Formats: sequence, structure tokens, C-alpha cells
Amino acid sequence: MSGLVRAGAKQVRGAYRQRQLEAGESGWGAPVAPPPVVPAKHRPARVVVIGAGIQGGILAQGTVALEGAELVGIADLDTDRARALAAKVGLAPAGVSADAAALIARERPELVCVATTAPSHVALGRVALDTGVRRILLEKPIDISYDDAVAFDAAARAAGAVVGVNYFRRWAVDPAAVRDAVRSGAIGRVQIVTAQLGASDLAMIGSHFIDLCRFFLDEEIASVSANLHESGRVNVRGADFEDPTGHVLLTFAGGARAFIDFDDGIPKNDFVITLRGEDGIIVIEEGQLRWSLRARSTRTWTFPMATGNAPVLCNARVLHGMLTGDVAACTTADGLAALDAVLAAHHSSADGGRRVALPLTHEQRQLVVRFP
Ligand SMILES: NC(=O)c1ccc[n+]([C@@H]2O[C@H](COP(=O)([O-])OP(=O)(O)OC[C@H]3O[C@@H](n4cnc5c(N)ncnc54)[C@H](O)[C@@H]3O)[C@@H](O)[C@H]2O)c1
Repeated sequence: MSGLVRAGAKQVRGAYRQRQLEAGESGWGAPVAPPPVVPAKHRPARVVVIGAGIQGGILAQGTVALEGAELVGIADLDTDRARALAAKVGLAPAGVSADAAALIARERPELVCVATTAPSHVALGRVALDTGVRRILLEKPIDISYDDAVAFDAAARAAGAVVGVNYFRRWAVDPAAVRDAVRSGAIGRVQIVTAQLGASDLAMIGSHFIDLCRFFLDEEIASVSANLHESGRVNVRGADFEDPTGHVLLTFAGGARAFIDFDDGIPKNDFVITLRGEDGIIVIEEGQLRWSLRARSTRTWTFPMATGNAPVLCNARVLHGMLTGDVAACTTADGLAALDAVLAAHHSSADGGRRVALPLTHEQRQLVVRFP
């Protein structure tokens, strides 16, 4: 077989497998999804990152890793931190500023990523919107203020802006494959979801999986019960932040239950998610880069993840989606639903684990929790 034919056959096999994976049907071998590229029609794709901390660093590196995108600015109140990040990712010192508004006005980027801590997400998103930016990625949780986030959402809609909230799994290939398998009825109607996360915090990690449950089940949360307590860990983002550990139980409009445990006792970063349907079960072992599906026939398929879980590459996918999509894969409505559930968990836990119905009332949404 000539080299050309072999290369052609390999390409066809790769494309076929990718399609199957995206359809949640099949998969074998090593991760295959190619890194994303911003197509010519979406260039220039200039990006400003606000917040040069842990996540801002990942988004800056993700921009540099994304072919067709260009990092043009980093803003942080802590300019030393911004300068250090700029040096790490190869951005000239002139691209660093303590003044996000001035930087955005000067650079006129296509996309602004707000990667500061939650109390300033919406305020900085508003700065970007008012400066004419029409693609804005807010870090999760969307903000600490439900009302401010709703007002921002309305302003962004009126301006025709694309706003996303970085629950990054919504942009990834494998969770979409799982959701498609669920939608296709492969395990029947899903009744029970569990997310076993290990020692972590409600807003920081738990809210990712609150959102993921909504994504998999494609339904709204009807109620939240929670048992939360202080973790005793010092929050690396500052001692003034409050984000307890514990567990939450969600019920969904269609009757499914989801139990999300982020309490101490098992190590962090070995996330295991199960979806139990009437006719089968899906088990996702994120750290092992695989998921399996046991169908009605009792046959079990195991799929290697199409993409790894390296944060820079996961976020490059988010950036690609934000730069090219007409709608964000994770919208402000999704961010607001996750925030409602986080606030409900605080209400429930403060009331001995009582079940709190969603959506929350206006009064319940006035609760102020300073999570990062
Ligand atoms: N999507 C994810 O997977 C993911 C992962 C980690 C963190 N996060 C989120 O990202 C956000 C940041 O987390 P982090 O770990 O990078 O925090 P961090 O404390 O390491 O960094 C935050 C940075 O923002 C800067 N900052 C704060 N307020 C600012 C303002 N008004 N203007 C300019 N700069 C300001 C701080 O000086 C700091 O450098 C949090 O909301 C967190 O929940 C998301």
C-alpha cells in the first residue's frame, strides 16, 4: 500500500472515530480529537485576559496554544502578577495593565475573559460590554450577586453579545458524547446521578458538577438539600473568601436525583461520575480518561476520552468556542441556574438540610456569600 493510501485510510478512520465519539457511540485507542483551530473567517481573534491568577494563567496559555488566536493584553490589579504571567506566555510588557477598561479600549479585542474572583466577574464583564466587546467569557461562578448577573445578562442580550460562563466541560468532546448517549436512550431514563469528587469546595468545584448534572439531564433543578461545613483549609485566593465543603442532593423536574459529594475523606482530583438509568449505567472516571456504558443487553463498552483533561487544552476549546460560536456552549442562563443552586445549598444547610425549592425567591437570592 502506498504511503498516500495509508495516510488517506488513517484520515478516514480518524474522522469516522471522531464522529462516533461525538455521537457517543464508539471509541478505541488513544485520545484522538485534534486541537481546535480558529478558522480564517473568525480572525483576527484577539484576546484580553483580566485576572492573572491561577485561572487567568490557564486562559492566557490556552490562548497562546490556540492556533489563530492572539493574546493582546493581561490586566490585573496586581501588576507584578500580570507582568510575571506576560513573561511566561511571551506577551510584551506593553500588553500589561492594572486598568482593565483602558486596556480593552486600547486593544479592542474580539474576546475578553474575566478570570478574577467571583465578586468582580459581572462588573468587569460590564466594563468589556460598555467598551464595545461582543464576546465575553466570565469565569464561574457567574458572580456572587444573582441580581447583578441578571442585569448584566439583559444588557448583553440587548447589545447582541455572546457571553459564556466557564463551566468548561460544556465545550468538551467527551461530556457531549455522554449526553448524546443519554439522549439516545442507551441507558433508559436517568434516575440517579452521583458525582464523587473528593475534598474540595461548593462554589469552586461543586458548582461545575451541579452544572454538569443539568447538562446531562437537560432538565431544571427542582430542589436542593445540602449539608455544608467549613473545610478548615485556607483559601489560596484569600482568607476573606468563604466556600464550604460538604455534599448536596439535587432533585430534577423529571424526578431524577443527583448526589454531589465534595467532602473530605477521598482524595481530590479523582472525579467519578455515575449516571444510573432504568436500563443501564454510565461511569465516567475523569482522572483515568475513560468512561463506560453498560446497556440493557448488559454488555459494557469502555471509551477512552477523545481529549485529555489538561487544563490549558480544555480551556483552548472554550476559547475556540467563544471566538467562533453564535451562542456560548455554557450560557448566562446556565451560570444563573448554577448560582441559584449554590445559594440554595447555603440556605438548606443553614436550615439543617431542609429541602429548598428552585428557582429561589427574590428574597432568597439576596443572600451574600463571598465565594471565589
Ligand atoms: N473554569 C475553571 O475550571 C476554573 C478553575 C479555577 C478557577 N476558576 C475561577 O477563576 C476565578 C479566579 O480564580 P483563581 O484561582 O485564578 O484566583 P486567583 O486569586 O489566583 O486570581 C485572581 C486574580 O484576579 C485579580 N483581581 C481580583 N479582582 C480584580 C479586579 N477587580 N481587577 C483586576 N484584577 C483583579 C487578583 O489580583 C488575582 O491576581 C475564580 O472565580 C475561580 O472560581 C475557574
